[in-house]
Amino acid sequence: MARLTIIKQDNPLIRKQSKIVDDFSPRLHEILDNMQETLFHARGMGLAAIQVGILYRMAVIITEEYGVVEIINPIIKTAKNQRVDSEGCLSCPGISGRVRRPHLVTLEYQDRNGKKHTQTFRGIDAVCCCHEIDHMNGILFIDKMEQ
Ligand code: CO
Repeated sequence: MARLTIIKQDNPLIRKQSKIVDDFSPRLHEILDNMQETLFHARGMGLAAIQVGILYRMAVIITEEYGVVEIINPIIKTAKNQRVDSEGCLSCPGISGRVRRPHLVTLEYQDRNGKKHTQTFRGIDAVCCCHEIDHMNGILFIDKMEQ
């Protein structure tokens, strides 16, 4: 495994749209393994592929309820319980702020083998999913920060 370089908010790549993942080969697994190592080392909660310069719709999340979850091609099916909570991002070091997000989210996504899942995430896990899905669309939490 190898640690990857996390790009920061001033890198124009961070604003790009990520593409659908359609190749679930060992090469994908290697990227996801490296993303996990990068996330653990950075002591973050979530890392989207775009943050390591890979423009595909996938992220690794360390959840409270399920442990490490890899969400690939995620789609938000339902989003409820909007609340404001404090947030940060590995691509925006030194910045934290309050963001309104759903705290109960049901996602459809694929795992690293392409298998489809429907799963409900709660509280900070739901926030983290939405934050990572925003990354896949070139959106940063600082765009949504409240006063
Ligand atoms: Co982030």
